Amino acid sequence: MIGIITRLFAREAAVSQAGPGDARALAALHASSFHRGWSEDEFERLLSDRHVVAHRATTGTALAGFILSRIVQDEAEILSIAVASARRGRGLARQLLDINLRRLAALGARSVFLEVEEGNISARRLYRRAGFQEVGRRETYYAPERGAAALVLRRDLP
Ligand SMILES: CC(C)(COP(=O)(O)OP(=O)(O)OC[C@H]1O[C@@H](n2cnc3c(N)ncnc32)[C@H](O)[C@@H]1OP(=O)(O)O)[C@@H](O)C(=O)NCCC(=O)NCCS
Repeated sequence: MIGIITRLFAREAAVSQAGPGDARALAALHASSFHRGWSEDEFERLLSDRHVVAHRATTGTALAGFILSRIVQDEAEILSIAVASARRGRGLARQLLDINLRRLAALGARSVFLEVEEGNISARRLYRRAGFQEVGRRETYYAPERGAAALVLRRDLP
């Protein structure tokens, strides 16, 4: 019995493209990961947008993580990435980011931008490891009352 449970929890996540049918699950994970959640409608709109590149990680039928980016001509932006709290720290975000960046490169993106809260250590490590560099800073961008600044990061694609 314990062996079965261990195997279930250790199960690898499968990464695939996400579509409008994933809107509800993505909105729920987004809401539990950020101060301001995006609605299911917002996700449905984004996931139907031909400029948006979306991937999801699932374990069985459960959503373990997702990433959304937008590409316009040769420039792209990472819109959001989140991993379910129980699945963090196992390289899942890195896997999602890698596959999304590869897809953006295949679609013709030459540079990718994103914004990250200065105090978000795990996200900053994730992006640094993936080759993103700081190109700007916006003071009190996320939460003026907390004084949280946003860093603008950029990475060029081959
Ligand atoms: C940021 C987030 C997506 C990372 O997901 P994850 O699957 O845990 O990330 P990974 O396991 O791929 O690890 C990525 C890096 O973060 C580091 N990391 C993960 N959890 C960490 C923690 N709690 N504290 C410090 N660093 C951490 C890892 O060590 C790794 O860095 P390394 O390669 O230098 O060792 C996840 O924490 C999350 O969903 N956070 C809430 C939403 C969010 O902040 N999204 C980013 C918005 S810009």
